Amino acid sequence: MIEFTINGRKVSLDVAPDTPLLWVIRDEIGLTGTKFGCGVGMCGACTVHVGGHPTRGCITPVQDVAGAEIVTIEGLDPNGDHPVQVAWRELQVPQCGYCQSGQIMTAAAMLRDIPNPTDEDIDAVMTGNLCRCMTYNRIRAAVRQAAAAMRGAVTNG
Ligand code: FES
Ligand code: FES
Repeated sequence: MIEFTINGRKVSLDVAPDTPLLWVIRDEIGLTGTKFGCGVGMCGACTVHVGGHPTRGCITPVQDVAGAEIVTIEGLDPNGDHPVQVAWRELQVPQCGYCQSGQIMTAAAMLRDIPNPTDEDIDAVMTGNLCRCMTYNRIRAAVRQAAAAMRGAVTNG
């Protein structure tokens, strides 16, 4: 049995230890917001937070997350109103949408570490998250907008 916490809920699963975390999240737990893209750690579609760090679920054996706290796109905010999600909606970032949960999870983790990112910071962090619809300009703008909203929230207490 492998145990961990996902979106605040403790789970205990009887799965092969080398099963990729992405399959466990989608097929065993039933959270399908996290997507399969390349399967080899190159596109970022499968990004979730493990202990707060953006992590590729497709190349992470589930045994590596035993005891960890995992957050998926479904758990980022109970109402889907994390500042990154709000900015994504307001600026209509997604096109087909397939890459976007991974984009949002990477951006949300970045803004915890870099509250006021430059375009260079954004590009450096987001470069591993590919978008075949080329929404990169809107992603950059939305990250800036979310960063401003998060700084404002801190400033205003
Ligand atoms: S599906 Fe995991 S990085 Fe592409
Ligand atoms: S919005 Fe289509 S792949 Fe990014």
